[in-house]
Amino acid sequence: MRAAAFTDLIGPDGVSTIEREVPDCGPEAALVDVEACAINRHDLWILEGESAMVDATDLPFVTGLDVAGVVSEVGDDVRGVEPGDEVVLCPNQTCGSCRFCREGPENLCERFSLYHGGLAETARVQADRLIPLPEGVDATTAAAIPTASMTAFHMLRRAEVGPGDLVFVPGATGGVGVATVQLADIFGAETIGTSSSEAKLERVRELGLDHGIRSADVDDIREAVEGIGAPDAVINHLGGEFTELGQSVMRRGGTMTICGRTAGGESTIRVANLFLGHKRVIGSTMGTQDDLRRLVDLAADGDLAPEIDETYALEDTDAAFAAMQDRETVGKIVVEP
Ligand SMILES: NC(=O)c1ccc[n+]([C@@H]2O[C@H](COP(=O)([O-])OP(=O)(O)OC[C@H]3O[C@@H](n4cnc5c(N)ncnc54)[C@H](OP(=O)(O)O)[C@@H]3O)[C@@H](O)[C@H]2O)c1
Ligand SMILES: [Zn+2]
Repeated sequence: MRAAAFTDLIGPDGVSTIEREVPDCGPEAALVDVEACAINRHDLWILEGESAMVDATDLPFVTGLDVAGVVSEVGDDVRGVEPGDEVVLCPNQTCGSCRFCREGPENLCERFSLYHGGLAETARVQADRLIPLPEGVDATTAAAIPTASMTAFHMLRRAEVGPGDLVFVPGATGGVGVATVQLADIFGAETIGTSSSEAKLERVRELGLDHGIRSADVDDIREAVEGIGAPDAVINHLGGEFTELGQSVMRRGGTMTICGRTAGGESTIRVANLFLGHKRVIGSTMGTQDDLRRLVDLAADGDLAPEIDETYALEDTDAAFAAMQDRETVGKIVVEP
């Protein structure tokens, strides 16, 4: 089978199409003929050599978390899915035995890790992480859901966003950003989003963004947000200086959930502002299988249409990563092996 592998951790030029053996299935696994696999900034970091998770000794490395396709084989111990089923994978990998796996939520698993391997014609996955696709949800749509929408959905839930709330999402044009805008809309909330590009912001306005701020400068953004209102929630996937910004603009008693650090891994917390303002800052990673199931149902009902900027053939995976690196895209980028 063919796979798009990282053969050098130098950015998009380090992606090559390679031939690999189709993996053995094993008793608890399933093989999926991959029809679509979305890429994420997480993968780009690995490709740029910025992730501690993968180094030169792991090459060639096949990434790809968000797998959707058709089950081609299941192991002897597998129940609930069978060959021919259209499925999407929840990329959470959990131990199944720790306190959080037993009592939930599973994404707190003490040995939590993420699935990698979807940028290939066949993926070997944990069968109990497969969610059947309902009528009307195709593989490309399904692949655009897990990492971005599940993470955004979980953050919005943890921030207890509800009807009439004002949600601020710095960096509203990427995977998590657009998903936050779309899902906040479903929750009945109003959104403020930022981008360095007016053209991208315009597209996100069409997808439901209420207030777009075209700037990458935190002082300009602060002034613009203050002119709109004090957000009830900040959904922060950029980290860095956007964390101080989020803390300062949110309302008294507001909540900021953080899932990423695209703009930097460190920030200053204004301690007095935090406690005098009764504010909450919450870390959040991925979501639960139940979150993903609910999102797939929203897509089936026509309430959620994940924004897909472009689809790429497997051999063009390097171009897909180049587009992400160049910040050219709105929403998700999906590879179709
Ligand atoms: N913890 C988790 O479970 C989890 C899950 C998913 C994602 N994440 C994290 O969340 C972040 C977003 O992931 P994604 O896949 O949605 O990425 P993405 O699609 O590449 O996000 C693009 C967005 O980030 C903005 N951006 C890019 N580089 C920036 C920079 N240097 N400074 C400020 N803004 C910048 C872009 O703004 P412009 O419009 O101005 O280009 C755009 O709005 C990543 O840090 C990722 O690792 C974490
Ligand atoms: Zn566990």
